[in-house]
Amino acid sequence: MSKPIILVTGTNGQLGWSLQNLSIEYSHQFEFLFVTREQLDLSKPTTVANFIQQHQPKIVINCAAYTAVDKAETEQETALNINAISVGEIAKACKAIDAILITISTDYVFDGNGTTPYKINHPTNPINYYGYSKWLGEKLALENNADTIIIRTSWVYCEHGNNFVKTMLRLMKERVEVNVVNDQIGCPTYAPDLAQAIMQIILLLPKNKHRGIYHFSNTGNISWFNFATTIRNITELNCLVNPIPSLAFPTPAKRPTYSVMDITAIKKDFEIEITDWQISLKKCLKNLEQ
Ligand SMILES: NC(=O)c1ccc[n+]([C@@H]2O[C@H](COP(=O)([O-])OP(=O)(O)OC[C@H]3O[C@@H](n4cnc5c(N)ncnc54)[C@H](OP(=O)(O)O)[C@@H]3O)[C@@H](O)[C@H]2O)c1
Repeated sequence: MSKPIILVTGTNGQLGWSLQNLSIEYSHQFEFLFVTREQLDLSKPTTVANFIQQHQPKIVINCAAYTAVDKAETEQETALNINAISVGEIAKACKAIDAILITISTDYVFDGNGTTPYKINHPTNPINYYGYSKWLGEKLALENNADTIIIRTSWVYCEHGNNFVKTMLRLMKERVEVNVVNDQIGCPTYAPDLAQAIMQIILLLPKNKHRGIYHFSNTGNISWFNFATTIRNITELNCLVNPIPSLAFPTPAKRPTYSVMDITAIKKDFEIEITDWQISLKKCLKNLEQ
């Protein structure tokens, strides 16, 4: 009997790369089809249906996204096509072949005015275009295929790609001091931990009927400044980390002040154990050192 196909978009991104590494452990059970932008360009939504129809996956994990938060303010049409319209097309195409869609969203669907972790049903109110495009992607996915799981995540990093951890490591080696904002609170997510959670969900799917919106990050809540000082302390780099207010570091896109998400629903509905952010950060830094 042929193995069920799991089609993964965003292969060369942080989460796609993490899923590729993990897929080896599940290759006896599933056939993975890792898709790049060259094979399926989500800025062209009209091409999506054919591609999915042609490959007949049982599950689609959509890790592809337009993730340049500041550039999204000016490249709105591209961000909208990739993060929203194509996600709706993927959902439609999945429904047509009875496939389940797992698509990734963001803490940026919230406005950041909260003071306690956002529950999955907390009202959304994106404050930048990236957040708006991801919010619309959520809506179109759910409208077009009830068999959809949306996983909102935050502050993603890993050994691969561009992220805060790697930028900090580079700057801390080059400079005697770095300035980091201390008035935005959130929680980091180690992409391999999210990849593991996704595979755990997939293993439970045949029987587990939970669908809809979930939140996933590592546990904890910190500022970018706390994140940077912890990176410095673990690596013992000799660099001063200065706390600065967001006002001193203006960006084209506004950032939510508070974006910690409540992760109890995913833990409960899919029996997922979630690692403390410092443990995963140590693992990543150790791997980067080697
Ligand atoms: N990074 C974060 O801090 C963060 C925070 C919250 C939520 N998220 C969400 O988490 C998910 C995974 O993020 P990530 O950090 O793995 O992102 P990433 O590293 O930026 O990777 C994004 C991937 O999307 C692909 N992509 C971009 N435009 C595309 C297009 N037109 N057609 C097809 N593929 C395209 C990229 O392809 P190329 O490799 O060819 O460029 C890349 O492989 C995304 O949904 C993102 O919105 C991320």
